[in-house]
Amino acid sequence: MTIRNLDDLLAEGVSGRRVLVRADLNVPLDKQSGEITDDGRIRAVLPTLSALVQAGAKVVVCSHLGRPKGAPDPQFSLRPVAGRLGELLGAPVHFAEDTVGDSARACVAELADGQVALLENLRFNAGETSKDDAERGAFADQLAALGDAYVDDAFGAVHRKHASVHDVPARLPHVAGRLVLREVEVLSRLTGSPERPYVVVLGGSKVSDKLAVIEALLPTVDRLLIGGGMCFTFLKAQGHEVGTSLLEKDMVETCRNLMERAPGKIMLPVDVVAADAFAPDAAHDTVPADGIPSHRLGLDIGPETVAGFAAALSQAKTVFWNGPMGVFEMAAFANGTRGVAEAITKADAFSVVGGGDSAAAVRALGLDESSFGHISTGGGASLEYLEGKTLPGIAALEN
Ligand code: 3PG
Ligand code: MG
Repeated sequence: MTIRNLDDLLAEGVSGRRVLVRADLNVPLDKQSGEITDDGRIRAVLPTLSALVQAGAKVVVCSHLGRPKGAPDPQFSLRPVAGRLGELLGAPVHFAEDTVGDSARACVAELADGQVALLENLRFNAGETSKDDAERGAFADQLAALGDAYVDDAFGAVHRKHASVHDVPARLPHVAGRLVLREVEVLSRLTGSPERPYVVVLGGSKVSDKLAVIEALLPTVDRLLIGGGMCFTFLKAQGHEVGTSLLEKDMVETCRNLMERAPGKIMLPVDVVAADAFAPDAAHDTVPADGIPSHRLGLDIGPETVAGFAAALSQAKTVFWNGPMGVFEMAAFANGTRGVAEAITKADAFSVVGGGDSAAAVRALGLDESSFGHISTGGGASLEYLEGKTLPGIAALEN
């Protein structure tokens, strides 16, 4: 596979050229204040942007934020991101009020060499996510007209067959940015021949979301530790009652099959923190995994489980972690996620944290990011990479 990267583009010279950068600036915003609660994805794209600025390019950044429905929707505006990006770059970022319209064209035309513009949310345009090739292509034409070269640094979106990811690179000279390059290098270490034991920790709410990756990983991992909301469907498959915990009834049989297929590989919680309600101040207790009271729901893994998972992780040479172990946003149910995260940092292993939520959990819990081998900016993207799927954004760069 031959993918040109940013260094190839810089070697050609970009001074005075308009370089369109697809970034994933889909950051979480506070529901009340609209403020950015975690700017990790903005910081992750700085190496690419700074290199282009220093080389004198006219840098045109585009991204999606949230899932607006193909039309402008103020709650998903990228304007606050332009402000934060400017602070981090140490220079103001020009903000276009639309993505490919009059404002965007004027904004790009006014850029001096070494300046940065951010276009409004790509998903305010129906063409961005359209399943219709012609509709996506028409939007890609407009977007491509704003650049002379294209850099994909939106790792979190490479699994989307969207205009800015899949169709623009067919219209402009294209390279992978620093972030995409690093993400692919790291994840390919996991799909190649990882040093063993290779231990994967999966959490998050739904088995159905993770089924494909579980299927793909099961034959290759040494241990698969399962926590988070999805563990209750597995516990049910083991024959336990799970009270009012999250349960995907139609997945119970599938979970049973998975466990039978790889006896001893899948580790489930032996105790859970069960609460009266899904609330930060709900009454709660630690109970054995086979003793969840019928009126209670599990919101975290318990301390004995954390100790067992930590023991498995302490042996590991390679670790991949995706998905919180409990409702870490509520202090009472954050211990499982914190305990597992700490165990990963202590292991003498190459560790990769995959995904928006787990990466945000690392930062929200105040853990040292540098004690992990790599924190991926892509949730869905890193899982689909590990599944071995063809990622439209990566495939587009290979051509
Ligand atoms: C993410 O948050 O996973 C990426 O930004 C992709 O967003 P999407 O799932 O809405 O396509
Ligand atoms: Mg997502």
